[in-house]
Formats: sequence, C-alpha cells, structure tokens
Amino acid sequence: MLKLHAVESGYDLVQVLWDVELEVGEGEFVAILGPNGAGKTTTLRTIAGYVRALRGTIEFNGKSLVGKAPHEISRLGIGYSSEGSNLFAGMTIYENLLVGAYTVRDKKQIASQAELVFELFPRLHERRNQLAGTLSGGERKMLAIARGLMPSPSMMLVDEPSLGLAPIPTLAAFEALKQLSHRGTTILLVEQNVNTTLHLVDRAYVLEQGRVVLEGTGDELLHNKEVQEAYLGI
Ligand SMILES: Nc1ncnc2c1ncn2[C@@H]1O[C@H](COP(=O)(O)OP(=O)(O)O)[C@@H](O)[C@H]1O
Ligand SMILES: [Mg+2]
Repeated sequence: MLKLHAVESGYDLVQVLWDVELEVGEGEFVAILGPNGAGKTTTLRTIAGYVRALRGTIEFNGKSLVGKAPHEISRLGIGYSSEGSNLFAGMTIYENLLVGAYTVRDKKQIASQAELVFELFPRLHERRNQLAGTLSGGERKMLAIARGLMPSPSMMLVDEPSLGLAPIPTLAAFEALKQLSHRGTTILLVEQNVNTTLHLVDRAYVLEQGRVVLEGTGDELLHNKEVQEAYLGI
C-alpha cells in the first residue's frame, strides 16, 4: 500500500533521513520507533507532503507522492495526526472535526464519519460541544487523531499519541488505535513507548540517526537483544 524506497529527506541545511526503506501493507499496523531526534516525525512529514523528499521514491497504491502537496496526499486517502495538536482552541470538539473534514463535500459522509469517530472516542462524544481549549492533554490528543480521521483515510499516520500523557489516557489512545486497526484502517504509528507499542503492532521499524537499523514483527523485536538493551531496559 505504502512503499518508501531509498528516501532521503530533511530541511534546508540538514539532511535527516538517509536511504530509508519502509513498507506498510494494506490493513497492517506498523510502528516507527527510535530515540528523540532520530527522524521519526520527519518521516511522517515527508510521507504527508509537508517536507519534500530529496531523493528516493514514495508510492501509495502505486501513485507517487513525491512533490505532491499535503491536501493532495490527504485526498489520496492518507490522514495525518501531528505531534503538536494545533487544534482551534476557541472552537468546540465538533467544530474542530468539521475543520478536519474540509476536503469532504458530502454532508452525509461527514455526519457518518463523525459518528464513527465518536464510537472510537466516546469521551469526545460526551464533550462534543466543549471548547477544544478547555480539554485535557489526553482529550486533545484524541481530538487530533479524530480530526485526522474525518476525511475517512484508508491509511492514518499518527505521531506520538502518548507524548506528555499520563498512563491512563495513553492506554485510551492506544485502545482507540487498536479499534481503528481492527476496523480495517492501515496505521503507521510513531512512538517512543517501545514496550506497549511492540505489543500492539504487527511490525515495527527502528530508526536511529535517520536510518532504519532494525525491522521485524512486534514479537521479533520484543525478543531482540539490541532492542531489549537499548529500549526495554532488560
Ligand atoms: N523544521 C526543522 N528545521 C531544521 N531541522 C529540523 C526541523 N525539524 C526537525 N529538525 C531536525 O531533524 C532531526 C530529526 O527530527 P525529528 O524528525 O523531529 O525526530 P524525532 O521525531 O525522531 O524525534 C533533528 O535533528 C531535528 O533537530
Ligand atoms: Mg517526533
């Protein structure tokens, strides 16, 4: 479904990604793990079109994404929920969801997608008329993911849903992603919460200094000596 080949990417003066090979199959739940500054966010931003790949190819269902604008990539069926949530604080939860659906013209589709999103995040449903600026950190993260889901993407890119969250909201966010995956959405998740993530996903890549250094199934990586020493404290 998604295929990155020999991707190099970065910002004006710094190259961040080097020769990245990464694949996500239809319906798969895949994670990118690795330390701070490894290039995980840059990888998602490159896929979503916010950062332009310098070299290599990125294909989604056979179509090249390189050089496409974020809204074009969104229309092809890729949703993106960024690390920082940049929600509209003065708008309600429901209004924020409508902003997320700005590329969707069909009102019925918007309403039914909002229903599905509220099933995944019952807490957002309870608070749908509450201003986003008054939400807890966990609720804001949920809303950021929910907003990314509004155009009904077939694949969702999710950047560190657990960042800055206490254990219980973290579990709620992971549970919602699990449900989303069970309902058939393909997910590429960036996380630093290695143990929980490896129990959740089908496969994962470990990124260090902009390069893929390890890849495997969740189980393989949980039993990998390097992963245990570097990330699991075993
Ligand atoms: N907008 C930017 N301009 C320049 N350098 C950046 C920018 N964003 C990130 N970087 C640099 O790119 C590297 C990778 O960052 P990032 O992809 O955010 O890593 P991660 O998400 O794995 O923590 C870091 O060295 C970071 O300082
Ligand atoms: Mg990041």
